[in-house]
Amino acid sequence: SANQMWGGRFAEGPDAIMTAINASIGFDKRLYAQDIAGSRAHAAMLAATGIVTPSDAKAIGEGLLTVLSEIETGQFQFRTDLEDIHMNVENRLKEIIGAPAGRLHTARSRNDQVAVDFRLWVRDQCDAAIAGLTALMRAFVAQAEAGVDWVMPGFTHLQTAQPVTWGHHMMSYVEMFARDRSRFEDARRRMNECPLGAAALAGTGFPIDRQMTAAALGFDRPTANSLDSVSDRDFALEFLAASSICAMHLSRFAEELVIWSSAQFRFVRLSDKWTTGSSIMPQKKNPDAAELLRAKIGRILGATVALFTVMKGLPLTYSKDMQEDKEQVFDAADTLMLGLAAMTGMVGDMTANRDVLAQAAASGFSTATDLADWLVRELGLPFREAHHVTGTLVALAESAGCDLPDLTLEQMQGVHAGIRADVFDVLGVENSVRSRQSYGGTAPDQVRAQIARWKEKLA
Ligand code: ARG
Repeated sequence: SANQMWGGRFAEGPDAIMTAINASIGFDKRLYAQDIAGSRAHAAMLAATGIVTPSDAKAIGEGLLTVLSEIETGQFQFRTDLEDIHMNVENRLKEIIGAPAGRLHTARSRNDQVAVDFRLWVRDQCDAAIAGLTALMRAFVAQAEAGVDWVMPGFTHLQTAQPVTWGHHMMSYVEMFARDRSRFEDARRRMNECPLGAAALAGTGFPIDRQMTAAALGFDRPTANSLDSVSDRDFALEFLAASSICAMHLSRFAEELVIWSSAQFRFVRLSDKWTTGSSIMPQKKNPDAAELLRAKIGRILGATVALFTVMKGLPLTYSKDMQEDKEQVFDAADTLMLGLAAMTGMVGDMTANRDVLAQAAASGFSTATDLADWLVRELGLPFREAHHVTGTLVALAESAGCDLPDLTLEQMQGVHAGIRADVFDVLGVENSVRSRQSYGGTAPDQVRAQIARWKEKLA
């Protein structure tokens, strides 16, 4: 039989496969709360503007609350033949309140309806991401505080570069996740305009009050162009883009954890709560959560590329292609929130091995730059020459099988006669990190200042 929402001109119902490809209820049921909130705001506005009677609007508003509780208590029967969440809710409303239900869709289309539902949903996810990132930043700050002046190797090319502090390394992620957070804040601010009232695409002849519905749904203002309102999915793309960047950051730290927790590194010990064993190798403690977090970027970036590909080349305004937006965003959002929670737990529960870090910091000629800087500062060598002298000393230590501080003063003077005994002061890693006092540098005092700034902002 023909569809009861739009079947007026149809003699035949859809093919079963058409129903299967067309229906979105299987996933867009997740928008039920937003759909009902949007409809309630719309109904109240229709009454306030005299488009429907107060008694019809009251019946609609109350009926929608009944539908809401039916869904929330699991009594609601979702029907695929009713396509999507919008028609499922409206159909049930009609069963409950009868004729007045038919007035709800006055001055509205599913095009502005889905646009408002989805914006509300994505806006909530921005809030969830902001909260999740705040918790994660706090976990990193706590780690930084616990080992603010613990020395560890800093790497470039994953080769020992210069000693840094554990606190400094932890705080570097706070900066990254703070930028991620601000991306969600920006996206939220930009998306916070209400498309409801754009109707199908051109607006409506009914005397609606878009300011009223926008305010009722917590938007800053109504969207300014009805054609744009029903065809825009930038808000979802921005959410996905911000999610992708954030997932990339999660992936980078996850990779560090995988490396650091290995038997060869032993920089950190991951809690049993965030690791798994092997069914055959009794000694194993595998960093599965970190590995999965390293991988999750694939799904989130995949969703981002998928939606960009859907949207590119779509002529204005609404096309059914856009129904493909939801599953991508749902999956990306679920993945991101789970990832943020998992990383927050894992960071909170991990323990840095101070001694191992200190040993590693002192190996690999990590203070070679300090030595070169000393030659510049104390002996007045041009940096390029100091670099060369230091390189010769590193080669000497390497062939002697020792590190820089293990060379004798005589050996050093054999390379450059001006070198004095006080050079050994700068070859120690503690002095090395303490000397990096430039703003944002690794000196414990600088890191303490970073921590203090963030603790205030995160309080
Ligand atoms: N389920 C649809 C979607 O997600 C709702 C909008 C339908 N609009 C339409 N003109 N068919 O995009």
